[in-house]
Amino acid sequence: MCGIVGAVAERNITTILIEGLKRLEYRGYDSAGLAVYTQQGNLERRRRIGKVSELEAAVAADPLVGQLGIAHTRWATHGAPTEHNAHPHFSGQELAVVHNGIIENHEELREQLKGLGYLFSSETDTEVIVHLLHHTLKTVPDLADALKAAVKQLHGAYGLAVISVHQPDRLLAARSGSPLVIGLGHGENFLASDQLALRQVTDRFMYLEEGDIAEIRRDQVSIWDVTGAKVQRETVQYHEGAEAADKGEYRHFMLKEIHEQPTVVQRTLEGRLGKDHVLVQAFGPQAADLFAKVRNVQIVACGTSYHAGMVARYWLEELAGIPCQVEVASEFRYRKVVVQPDTLFVSISQSGETADTLAALRNAKQLGFLGSLAICNVGISSLVRESDLTLLTQAGPEIGVASTKAFTTQLVSLMLLTLSLGQVRSTLAAGVEAELVEELRRLPTRLGEALAMDAVVEKTAELFADKHHTLFLGRGAQFPVAMEGALKLKEISYIHAEAYPAGELKHGPLALVDSDMPVVTVAPNNELLEKLKSNLQEVRARGGQLIVFADQAAGMSNGEGTHVIAVPHIIDALAPILYTIPLQLLSYYVAVLKGTDVDQPRNLAKSVTVE
Ligand code: F6R
Repeated sequence: MCGIVGAVAERNITTILIEGLKRLEYRGYDSAGLAVYTQQGNLERRRRIGKVSELEAAVAADPLVGQLGIAHTRWATHGAPTEHNAHPHFSGQELAVVHNGIIENHEELREQLKGLGYLFSSETDTEVIVHLLHHTLKTVPDLADALKAAVKQLHGAYGLAVISVHQPDRLLAARSGSPLVIGLGHGENFLASDQLALRQVTDRFMYLEEGDIAEIRRDQVSIWDVTGAKVQRETVQYHEGAEAADKGEYRHFMLKEIHEQPTVVQRTLEGRLGKDHVLVQAFGPQAADLFAKVRNVQIVACGTSYHAGMVARYWLEELAGIPCQVEVASEFRYRKVVVQPDTLFVSISQSGETADTLAALRNAKQLGFLGSLAICNVGISSLVRESDLTLLTQAGPEIGVASTKAFTTQLVSLMLLTLSLGQVRSTLAAGVEAELVEELRRLPTRLGEALAMDAVVEKTAELFADKHHTLFLGRGAQFPVAMEGALKLKEISYIHAEAYPAGELKHGPLALVDSDMPVVTVAPNNELLEKLKSNLQEVRARGGQLIVFADQAAGMSNGEGTHVIAVPHIIDALAPILYTIPLQLLSYYVAVLKGTDVDQPRNLAKSVTVE
């Protein structure tokens, strides 16, 4: 994912820009660059393919000194990862722009600008922005006013930073669908796509809101909102507790990471949604061409990531009508696989270094798949490097061994994949994509509502403290959610937990049910609810204790041996993401009651790099 850093100061800002880019490296990128307004009064840039250290070496060999500059790490979406496609992009020697996001109408704008005599030196969508702004400045000379006018013509998502030789005392920024934060210093100010990039220079931040334009000078920041009105944005003081490697107010990393889910899901969506559709280019420059040919999907992963893949199978087949197979990597890699024509190989991994998943990808390359896509949380991982396409989940570092936020961001990414494939292949029913895009935008709020169940789930955990076995049930896309719930419980509380599709109960596991065996069920209000209720009757008839996480409108109530916990309502397609939250909380609180090592459960490792 791309990263932005900018600075306006009295001191030389080049080292600040490079340090900021280094702090964003974890997000993954393929090239880096910076532009500085030099003491000689010119705009100069350095760009390099590969690591920020290569850019740093280039700057050391041919120094750039100045008080105003912008920098960028690029993750290719339009045009290959080459030096001429790396940002910053220039219009003449007058203007420089860096950009995160995707400009959807870039082809149309490119044609118009070519007609006006602009020469393009890259294949990027970003270059249209800098020429468009240059053209606008001919009639609107103030940089902030010109930027306000120019962005009105952009469709898509952007976080932008701009500098000009004509107004070298200011750095301009614009946000729409891709985050930006201003770092406030003393007599100097900064800009970045993530406050992490600026923590070496300040601890005070101002977050831009959707549609904001900002003019940042050394001693002054002006912001205009989407209506053009001048606004103040709150200044937020950074506290140590916000650091990823710090538990902050939480007792365990796992609980902190569970509570981070609204934020990281928001981050995973940022820059990837258009007005009523998913931006397919978020998967990479060749995504649209490759997706157009996909007739089947093969998903391979391990553990929690495998469960995410199992949910995706329901989505891909039900919503996008694309046949999908899902398999654990340790099986797939050693099996003689028959590959259907035009099958996309999708690997899912938090770490991107899981030995079995990586081996499966390497085998897949010999097996005639159409291409490979990695859904991964680590941009610099082997899985990402070796796949044709990538979608990075933006969960941030996950410290707790039991995966939580990585799982929900994988689900969000897989929903983006489902909608993208359906969009490109025209297999989605009318209106489905627009509705789901709208619901995805609301998802962080919904997840916040689910987290408010914390206290009631903590109380419910008491029912499990002295138990040795549990069953988890679900139907449809909730079956893998039940599997994930069971995996979480066994991993950190060491209670034996098994998951079944609820309809399988009477084919065997019902024999286990007695009053000592809690049965956990996820029950959204969907067309399978009545069937599920019948399955639950079968449990009650054998004296089993039911713990049901049910939609408020599911018509289920507490009774003897039945504990119903109301879950906020959500559209059925996104229910697997929401219902995961109470199950994570349940396993967490059971483990706390049992006094286990929640963050580092026995016998388990965070990254399984051996077979
Ligand atoms: C469970 C868990 C593991 C991982 C599995 C795959 O909480 O974290 O089951 O999901 O080891 O790891 P990644 O996703 O890194 O490939």
